[in-house]
Amino acid sequence: MTTSELIKQLFLSFSNKDNESFELAAREYIEREKRKKHNIVAKDLEKALYNSGDISISKKRFKNNIPIPRDTEKGFPLLEIQHFEGSFNDLIISKETKEQLEQIVREFKDSDILATYNLQYKKKILLCGKPGTGKTFSAKIMSSVLNIPLIYIRFDAIISSYLGETAGNLRKVFDFIEHATWIVLFDEFDIIGKNRDDNHEHGEIKRVVNNFLQMLDNLKGDSIILAATNHQNILDPAIWRRFDDVIYYNLPDAKIRQQIFEIYLKPMKRESNIDLEKISHLTENFSPADIKMVTEEAMKTTIINSKNLISMIDIETSVNKFIRREKVRNNEIGAK
Ligand SMILES: Nc1ncnc2c1ncn2[C@@H]1O[C@H](COP(=O)(O)OP(=O)(O)OP(=O)(O)O)[C@@H](O)[C@H]1O
Ligand SMILES: [Mg+2]
Repeated sequence: MTTSELIKQLFLSFSNKDNESFELAAREYIEREKRKKHNIVAKDLEKALYNSGDISISKKRFKNNIPIPRDTEKGFPLLEIQHFEGSFNDLIISKETKEQLEQIVREFKDSDILATYNLQYKKKILLCGKPGTGKTFSAKIMSSVLNIPLIYIRFDAIISSYLGETAGNLRKVFDFIEHATWIVLFDEFDIIGKNRDDNHEHGEIKRVVNNFLQMLDNLKGDSIILAATNHQNILDPAIWRRFDDVIYYNLPDAKIRQQIFEIYLKPMKRESNIDLEKISHLTENFSPADIKMVTEEAMKTTIINSKNLISMIDIETSVNKFIRREKVRNNEIGAK
């Protein structure tokens, strides 16, 4: 059977709802990948086919048949269900921060054992620190590692648009969450602090925040709730108290910056004179997201110039361009 015949077989068994022949064809496809020594692809496909992973976790997983809650007034969806592929190796952060994240995952996996000691796994976690340091990314990775879908909620979008509607919207969101086990991310949690100076708005926001905290206190189910902010300093003690753990994301030091350059330059072959240690020293105060952007820019330059190898100049030029851009942003050089 040729590959395209095999794929046709897959499609046919899918449309005939014939699970057995679907699995046979899928298995055959995986075997072919193995014979081609495409071991990573084969393993990935196997994982996708059997959705392997920790059985105690998949048991808790949710068959999604409840509609996604929407804003009553405008009808926009209040949350998104997302799936990711990734591992903790993709996240380059300090050892301490990574250990904190891994501990959360391990506690969740061992929640049954913890419960026999009357201990509860960490359920509500605040992720804070500078922009572009990996807060949102960490939530995605946790979702992938635990093989539990991520519920992504733009906290500011729910709150800022129609303050009057907010309590109802939040209720709907929490009702939805409680139906199953999820990794829930309330992203851009910053709104809580943002309107402090605006007295009129502030009263409203405060009410909403109290509302939110109450729902958080009464939350049922096994989900892990993450809230991400880059304005942790304005969160008041009432909010801090609600979280079982706070994870702080530092800007990377020179050594970590070098690792981030390594990982993001991986797709491309390099000239022999590339000195990433030097580059990492030129990029103080760069966030991981900044470094990703700089490496992508440099790789694109290499590609559009029809070169096979990325050069030190490509990278340095991209770094300098970024530094210039930051200066413009900070008003250090005005538009002339
Ligand atoms: N520590 C990291 N290691 C590797 N890649 C990272 C890291 N942090 C960020 N990135 C890359 O940068 C992208 C943007 O980061 P992310 O969205 O997680 O930042 P954030 O901390 O949520 O920022 P913000 O506060 O602006 O929301 C990620 O998708 C990832 O590709
Ligand atoms: Mg983010």
